[in-house]
Parts: sequence; structure tokens; C-alpha cells
Amino acid sequence: MEIKEVGVVGSGAMGAGIVEVCAQAGIAVTVSEANDDFLKKGMARIDAYFSKSVEKGKITAQDKEAILARIKGTTNVADMKDCDLIVEAVPEKLEMKKSIFSQLDKICAKETILATNTSALSIVDIAIATNRPDRVLGLHFFNPVPVMKLLEIVRSIATSDATVEAGKEFGKAIGKSPVVVKDTPGFIVNRLVMPFTLDAIRLLEQGIATKEDIDTACKQGLNHPMGPLEMTDFLGNDILYYGSLDMYEKYKDPKFMPPVLLQKMVAAGWLGRKAGKGFYDYK
Ligand SMILES: NC(=O)c1ccc[n+]([C@@H]2O[C@H](COP(=O)([O-])OP(=O)(O)OC[C@H]3O[C@@H](n4cnc5c(N)ncnc54)[C@H](O)[C@@H]3O)[C@@H](O)[C@H]2O)c1
Repeated sequence: MEIKEVGVVGSGAMGAGIVEVCAQAGIAVTVSEANDDFLKKGMARIDAYFSKSVEKGKITAQDKEAILARIKGTTNVADMKDCDLIVEAVPEKLEMKKSIFSQLDKICAKETILATNTSALSIVDIAIATNRPDRVLGLHFFNPVPVMKLLEIVRSIATSDATVEAGKEFGKAIGKSPVVVKDTPGFIVNRLVMPFTLDAIRLLEQGIATKEDIDTACKQGLNHPMGPLEMTDFLGNDILYYGSLDMYEKYKDPKFMPPVLLQKMVAAGWLGRKAGKGFYDYK
């Protein structure tokens, strides 16, 4: 199935990135937001991204105009009715996502594939809000979307083979490397990286090594581009804390239990780069 027109619900950090990669790959995109103010903010974010690409010499000013011409903004999801694929990227709230999927199910053609960019929710829990659970899947992009090549294609017990194939083809068409994973908490990447990062915090908490040496060890010894403490500061220590609590709840496996140090840092507001302080100081 060829994906010619894509809808993106939400133009925050992830939604804007998904719009950018689709439009840059030549696909027509309709992006929807909750209201005009958020839509304006999202469109400005997308415009700024392509202006930077022009400044860096990655694209020309004409390329930018051509790319932006492929993007349509709306506050009415009904404007997405002709899309072949719609990717939802609204906040991580199950009821909100279900309500959007139920609306999309009513307005879209029966062939339209509905995808969620959820990080941690179950795909089938969202799919049951529709009458097409076989055409619902997870498309888990990584942040920042234009930079990160990986795309986790998440199949629920109800997702059809054809939908998985269409997801893979779409991923390749927008320059991503798709991997297929079953609908399980953490998918592949978060399931592996969370215990690793929590263990790095435990090493620090137990005074086994300094934060700098833990990060240097992973960069120099494992060839990781960032150390685990630098990385969690970058992504947000609150995201790791609540994400690992959620995984612990689901798997009941102590490897996902957040260390006390992380809990105290979140309580103190040391959330990482965005707060000016985390494991490191950014002021
Ligand atoms: N940020 C990350 O690193 C990351 C990575 C992978 C997946 N995710 C997942 O992607 C999803 C979005 O995350 P984000 O970081 O982009 O969040 P965000 O808060 O930056 O953006 C969410 C956007 O959705 C909009 N929105 C809310 N209700 C809406 C509605 N009814 N219709 C249209 N738009 C609506 C908001 O106005 C906001 O702009 C979440 O499920 C998150 O778990 C996030």
C-alpha cells in the first residue's frame, strides 16, 4: 500500500518532527492541533526547523518553500479523512488517545491505517476504540525525529500482517530503519535502556564511581555517543522516573525499580537540561 498522504495529530516535540520527515520525503501532510494557538506554535516550530536547514546549507530556500507547501495545518480532524495513514502524537494519556482514535475511525476510509506514537501504552488498548483493530499499530519514533533513524513498528495481537508491512514500507520511504516488535511494555529500546540507565544511577548512588567516570566508561568502552547520566539529563529525569515506575508496575521486575536518588532528584526538580540542573549543572 502506497502512503501518499499522511495525517499527524499533535504538533509538539514528536508530532512536529514526524511532519518534518514526511514532508521532506515528498509526502503531503495534514497536521491537526487542539486549538489555533497550539497550531500556530507547531507550524512555527516546523518553519524554524526548515529555516535552520536552509542556514546550514542542507536545503535551498526553494526546497523549503516546496516542503512547506506540502504541509496543511488544521484544528478539525475531519480534514484528515483522505489520509492513507494517520499518526497520533498527543500527550501520553490513554483516554485522550482512545477518543482521538474513535473520532478518526468514524471519519476515515476503511483502508486508512491508524498509528500511535505512544512510548508506553498498550497498542491494543488504543485499537479497541476503533472498528479496525487490524489496521492499528504503533509507530514509535525517537526524539529528535529528523535525526534518529530508528522506527519501532509495534504490532498488537490484532494488527494484520498487511498493516505491519505498510508500516515498514512507510518507515523506509521516510528514511527510517524499521524494526518490528510485539506490543509489550518498553518495546525493544526502552526495555533495554531503562535498566541500564537505572543501574548507572545505582553505581553513582553507591559511590562506586563518579558521574563523569560512569559516562566516560560508557562512551569510551561501549562507544555510546552519550553517557547514561548525560542521556537521562538530556531526555528528562522525570521521564525516566515515571517511565520506569510504570514498567516496574507492569513487569514486577526489580530491575525497573527507580533508585531512591532518582526519586529525590525528581522531587527536588532536578529534571536535567530543561531544568538547568540534573546529574550535571547546565546554568
Ligand atoms: N518526547 C519524546 O521523547 C517521545 C519519544 C517517543 C514517543 N513519545 C510519545 O509521543 C507522544 C507525544 O509526545 P510529545 O513529547 O510530542 O508531547 P508534546 O506535549 O510535546 O506534544 C503533544 C501535542 O499534542 C497536542 N494535542 C493535545 N490534544 C490534542 C488534540 N485533541 N488534537 C490535536 N493535538 C492535540 C498538544 O497541544 C501538543 O502540542 C506521547 O505519546 C509520547 O509518549 C515521546
